[in-house]
Amino acid sequence: MFLYQNGQLALKQGSQALLLKEIVQQEKTPFYLYDIQGLREWYRFFLSATQNQAKVFFAMKSNFNEQVLRAFQKEGAGVDVVSGGEARLAQDCGFQPQDIVFSGVGKTAEELKMAVEQKFFQINVESFEELKRLAQICSEKNQTAPLALRINPNVNFSSHPYIKTGLSGHKFGLEESELKEILTFIKKNQALYLQGLSMHIGSQIFDLNPLFQAIHYLKSLYEQLKREGFPLKVLDIGGGLGVNYQQGDLEEEKAKLKEFGKTLKSLFKNFDGQVITEPGRFLTARFGILCATVEYIKKSPKKQFVILNSGMNHFLRTALYSDPHRILAFKQTQSLQKYDVVGPICETGDCFAKDIFLPELKQGESVALADTGAYGFVMANSYNLQTPVREIAFDQGKKL
Ligand code: LLP
Repeated sequence: MFLYQNGQLALKQGSQALLLKEIVQQEKTPFYLYDIQGLREWYRFFLSATQNQAKVFFAMKSNFNEQVLRAFQKEGAGVDVVSGGEARLAQDCGFQPQDIVFSGVGKTAEELKMAVEQKFFQINVESFEELKRLAQICSEKNQTAPLALRINPNVNFSSHPYIKTGLSGHKFGLEESELKEILTFIKKNQALYLQGLSMHIGSQIFDLNPLFQAIHYLKSLYEQLKREGFPLKVLDIGGGLGVNYQQGDLEEEKAKLKEFGKTLKSLFKNFDGQVITEPGRFLTARFGILCATVEYIKKSPKKQFVILNSGMNHFLRTALYSDPHRILAFKQTQSLQKYDVVGPICETGDCFAKDIFLPELKQGESVALADTGAYGFVMANSYNLQTPVREIAFDQGKKL
């Protein structure tokens, strides 16, 4: 975990505490720093708190760092991929085709061929057009494809509109009204093996009730299709559990997870099939920070700006979803200053925080943007051709 020890920001792994101020003496900023030990322990907690109700297919879109992937692979997780690139990287990191669920709304013919040839565990189909493409590929190759239909449960919940994915009118998934025709097509097509149903209603779910409602709906549909003779065996409930970026400990998430596990257990009592889940952010967000250095303290008549050597080019979430992350000074002090913390990019939206109080900072000192282990590095880009951001991982007190 990243925490303050005697007023100094540290990466605590077991009995060892590495001071961030010492790490930045060795490593040039900007970089993402990952706590692999913390992530592994949290994954184990996830399994025990959810009482192993659902097999985890880690949504690697949230973090595709090699060390992170290898850690999940060693723990026995599968992986949820959304492109051929992610599928290849997952396999380079030890995942087997049988560990891969292939999601995504725009799979290319090449990507579907790869999934069929390599026999991925499951292809989550999101449209009739995709299903037809898949059928064509299977018939050309004389192979079958295990697939799940991604269903749009049309359940709303409170989150940023860009990261809700399960409402009627969204590009994702299939609506129940489309199913009749699709199921008839599947019945006629020997190469298509409908093994399950899937869903993902969106991200940053804090009130779990809408999620449970959607799961309940999907489960009823699953049972109905089984009664109609489809030999289903997998129910994929997606990801989406939220991380509160305003505060830093895991207590709130631990409680949520226990509630999640308890409800899954009662929902799936006597369930005839395998439940799988695709968490991304919930597994990784807390175990990464973005370390950046102050280029300037700019005092203007109205504001005091901390200008960092990293901005929306390296961490896009704040600008894209107006979702500020905590900024951690390396050293806690009594005397605080009011700052806007911004990046070097030529956009006013390149701002990590407005009017926040931090220990007084000086040029050359570093800070960390907290909870950036999910949707951080993976969304970095080269806008303005600034120095690219790197990734560093530590496990058991040692750099990997
Ligand atoms: N499964 C599917 C099919 C998904 O589309 C996603 C995320 C997940 C699982 C994992 O969701 P999670 O557990 O991480 O919430 N860039 C945005 C998040 C976009 C998520 C897209 N899909 C952000 O930074 O908030």
